[in-house]
Amino acid sequence: MTLKINYNQMKEKISNTFRELFGKDPLVAFAPGRINLIGEHTDYQEGFVFPAAVEQGIFVAIQKNNLKSCRLYSYDFEQEYSFDLDSLAPKKGHWANYVMGMLSQFHQAGYKPEGFDMVIGGDIPVGSGLSSSAALSVAIGTAISKLFDLSIPTKSLVFYAQKSEHLYAGVKCGIMDPYASAFGAKDHALILDCRSNTHQEVKVDFGDYSLLLVNSNVKHTLADSAYNKRREACEESIKILQQEYPEATTLRDIPSQDLAQIEVILPSVLFPKAKHVILETERVLMAADALHHQDLNHFGELLKQSHQSLSQDFEVSCPELDFLAESSWKMEGVLGSRMMGGGFGGCTINLIHRSQLTEFREKIKIAYVLKFGITPDFIPVSLSQGARMLN
Ligand code: GLA
Repeated sequence: MTLKINYNQMKEKISNTFRELFGKDPLVAFAPGRINLIGEHTDYQEGFVFPAAVEQGIFVAIQKNNLKSCRLYSYDFEQEYSFDLDSLAPKKGHWANYVMGMLSQFHQAGYKPEGFDMVIGGDIPVGSGLSSSAALSVAIGTAISKLFDLSIPTKSLVFYAQKSEHLYAGVKCGIMDPYASAFGAKDHALILDCRSNTHQEVKVDFGDYSLLLVNSNVKHTLADSAYNKRREACEESIKILQQEYPEATTLRDIPSQDLAQIEVILPSVLFPKAKHVILETERVLMAADALHHQDLNHFGELLKQSHQSLSQDFEVSCPELDFLAESSWKMEGVLGSRMMGGGFGGCTINLIHRSQLTEFREKIKIAYVLKFGITPDFIPVSLSQGARMLN
């Protein structure tokens, strides 16, 4: 099945649901999901990443209710949830955490939004690695800021979204996902420096080639805990390396020319993971350069290297993603393919010649179904604008 974007339809559905439930016209905010061209597991080590916002995203309809509580409805889960504004606390595994988490960040920063009603819905497949959770947080933040005239700077919303995910969802994620969702630009990817938290827009023109995501439709349950463990492994490495590199605060500061020396210093379980981060952050800059020179072959080769490193050194891939990437490398018209996002499931990102797209889908689908008994989804993506109000 191909997932198609029904942008206006979705907005209408969410607004109509709001009117039916709450009897008022809502304001509607939208925040997109993101892809990442390259630069995986580098953001929380202050490295570079190369994400872009996509068209698919999360819609949030909102209006004041003059109460001291918030009444929520999730269109996708067909569930409602209410809570008092002065009793915010995480509720394990619940979608309302994203609203409560953002509100608690607002409170901490001194913003005092009052009660509201909200309907949430979207067209990002959950677990696909398109970062529906960051999009949700950014959309919620954008909506609340507008409704109460808080004029919260976009970058603050990004930090709140990240912190909310840490505290209310328990994932110690980096800055990449909410940043891309908030700052995305049409036809551009962002070279994001996760140390200064600033970015440059890079125009992306793949000519006769297109990006296509293949959703493995698996999400292994260890994903969140493994993510936090990888982050800890990086933090442990840098502590050890600081004896040799006292100025270094993250793996971003370790020069790749010193890898041989670093291998001697670090325990063998830590070294491959540190190596991934050090080389991956370099690959981001090489990829940006390759795009700048329209060298798509080199760009594709870097995607492949990134996958190999994520799979073998950083160990965040899984058999399904390895199979999808490795099968794609062998196919005609495919310049590059790799797992995208945190890992352990979700999508691969592929750069494919337009003339080969149909054949690619057919062949991958047959091979994947035969091997795993799971039907993959294909998600075409185009680089789009970041979060915004729709009315
Ligand atoms: C998840 C996290 C991001 C980033 C990626 C891996 O998407 O939310 O911060 O670390 O994994 O690159």
